[in-house]
Amino acid sequence: MSSPALEIIGLHKQFGGVAANDGIDLILETGEIHALIGPNGSGKTTLINQIMGILTPNSGEIHVFGQNVAHRPIHTRSKMGVGRSWQIPSVFPDLTVAENVAFGVRAALGLSAGWWTKALTEDVTDRVDKLLGQAGLRQVMDAPAGDLSHADQRKLDVAIALSSDPILVLLDEPLAGLGADETTHMLTYIRKIRANSTPGPKRTIVLIEHDMDAVFALSDRISVLVEGKIVATGTPQEIGQNPIVQHAYLGEA
Ligand SMILES: Nc1ncnc2c1ncn2[C@@H]1O[C@H](COP(=O)(O)OP(=O)(O)OP(=O)(O)O)[C@@H](O)[C@H]1O
Ligand SMILES: [Mg+2]
Repeated sequence: MSSPALEIIGLHKQFGGVAANDGIDLILETGEIHALIGPNGSGKTTLINQIMGILTPNSGEIHVFGQNVAHRPIHTRSKMGVGRSWQIPSVFPDLTVAENVAFGVRAALGLSAGWWTKALTEDVTDRVDKLLGQAGLRQVMDAPAGDLSHADQRKLDVAIALSSDPILVLLDEPLAGLGADETTHMLTYIRKIRANSTPGPKRTIVLIEHDMDAVFALSDRISVLVEGKIVATGTPQEIGQNPIVQHAYLGEA
């Protein structure tokens, strides 16, 4: 039997007196869209930061397609197919949209990347064009990223996360601050990302999101974090009916 896309065992991350992640166990199958929901400060970003390698756990294991990566550096995880977007979009505002994506692609391909390098060289243009097309950003490809609308910056941030062609994609609040139409576009984009146009398996997605309608529409399963612990995991229907979740998070009696 093939290994799950992601398996987390007994993960613990402490910040001083705060247990930001307190014994997290989680298994994601390949191709699953798995939402992490929970109140502010419940440990969602801390969890994906440890999956990506930005933070090191105090204890516990993180297996990506069967390999324990808990103490491997970010670039190794990136090569293994892990990619992430940021809660606060992290684009270079003075570079064009296409150059922002191109630097991501260059880094992923091990090509030179820095202020001294021309970003959009021939060896990356096809891949950049494909990523921009998928994100719906071709029309603004020559604009400085800092001039984009908030919604387009979010899409750009996700496109950059995809520049290494990850198979496990971690999205930290990609819908934050979006209006209704923009949310619909982003949901379509996330579904496309999962379907994965390149040959190979569907992508697996961890999605942190506060917009419950979007979470319920998009996710195969949902995990609810409260004070660093997963208090429930299940399908949207199961989570919607779970009394612990209704009490702890959805604000119902
Ligand atoms: N680098 C850090 N240093 C110290 N404490 C931190 C750090 N990062 C997070 N924390 C603390 O860990 C806890 C979990 O934070 P985290 O950012 O993971 O929450 P979150 O669920 O992503 O919240 P939000 O929905 O507001 O983004 C919080 O109490 C937070 O203050
Ligand atoms: Mg967060």
